Amino acid sequence: MTEPAPVYTRREYIKGYYYGFFPIKPTFLPKDYPDLSGKTAIVTGSNSGIGFHTMRFLYEKNCNVISVVRSESKGEVAKDKIVKEFPDSKGSITTVSGCDFLDLANVKPVGLKIKEILKGKPLNIIIHNAGIMPLINTETSKQGIEAIFQVNVMGPQLLQSFLDPLFLKKDDPLKRIVWVASGAHLSGFPEYGIHWEDPGFEKTPVAERPPAFTLYGQTKAANVLQAHAWATVNKKLVEDVGCVSVSVYPGNLKTNLESVQKNNWIMRTIINKFCYDGEHGAYTELYAALSPKLTVKDQGAYVVPYGDVREPRSDVAMAMKNGSDVKLWNIVEEKNAPYK
Ligand SMILES: NC(=O)c1ccc[n+]([C@@H]2O[C@H](COP(=O)([O-])OP(=O)(O)OC[C@H]3O[C@@H](n4cnc5c(N)ncnc54)[C@H](OP(=O)(O)O)[C@@H]3O)[C@@H](O)[C@H]2O)c1
Repeated sequence: MTEPAPVYTRREYIKGYYYGFFPIKPTFLPKDYPDLSGKTAIVTGSNSGIGFHTMRFLYEKNCNVISVVRSESKGEVAKDKIVKEFPDSKGSITTVSGCDFLDLANVKPVGLKIKEILKGKPLNIIIHNAGIMPLINTETSKQGIEAIFQVNVMGPQLLQSFLDPLFLKKDDPLKRIVWVASGAHLSGFPEYGIHWEDPGFEKTPVAERPPAFTLYGQTKAANVLQAHAWATVNKKLVEDVGCVSVSVYPGNLKTNLESVQKNNWIMRTIINKFCYDGEHGAYTELYAALSPKLTVKDQGAYVVPYGDVREPRSDVAMAMKNGSDVKLWNIVEEKNAPYK
């Protein structure tokens, strides 16, 4: 451990969750977005939920979107819908399928395909949006790693390693990476959100895993840390190129992610009453990706719904100051190394 994590208070935990249900109104809407002609953005998990609306708004602003999905057919359906909705857009949507993070061997071909599509043109925005929040804690990846950790943390970091040489170039002033986290990071493990001894639960019997929501909370704390760690490990180039890397809690939203609660009437009632549509999640993601208020001084900022910056859980904020974020980054790098 880098140093003992400060204990966060029950008050900040309650305050953090409360904010998600009573957030500020969107501050930066599609009408405020710049024209994105000639710009290229990657959005993962763009066939549904928040990712779909994020891709929609980018395309509406003439952006060339590389839509990274698992299923070709779902990706094409999403693309067709959006292209029909905005016939005047001068942008494009290119679907790259097969990006299922449950097997890390899928990621390199996706990275190579993106390189081929870009043909050396600037890559401006990367939104690591794909993610899962299952109710069960028993799923294990092809690599023998607890599934939520592999899909939400290791997969995006591995994909980023293939995007770094395409992205870290001084070829355009707009350079943003958005790591989609969640208010659920509040429910991660007590030390900086992470179960340090075995974050991927490779050495722990499945029956001894903690509840699924704690595992999900760990991954979303990890996403907050990844935003800052990426900027730190690439500091020299990041400063030279002028990149901004932030995490985002998109909001409490009605998407496929929440549909796991369909048989829990209490949760369904709360979701129907208090959660917003997926478009609202896109407002937060696109605040993170496009707002001029975020600058190179904001590496690792935690963007909250529907367009503001707040502190994450106090120990998670501390992890970005004392190097625990880079420690986690390096643990994941080591696990990802065979798939590069
Ligand atoms: N909804 C909320 O209230 C909320 C709140 C906070 C944070 N978030 C975060 O927002 C992000 C988007 O979630 P959403 O609400 O839009 O959920 P969603 O509608 O379920 O979309 C999730 C996306 O991730 C993809 N995905 C699922 N498993 C994958 C895997 N193994 N490998 C690669 N991609 C996979 C899905 O593809 P398929 O369609 O093929 O399954 C889908 O495109 C997630 O990172 C989530 O943690 C959501």
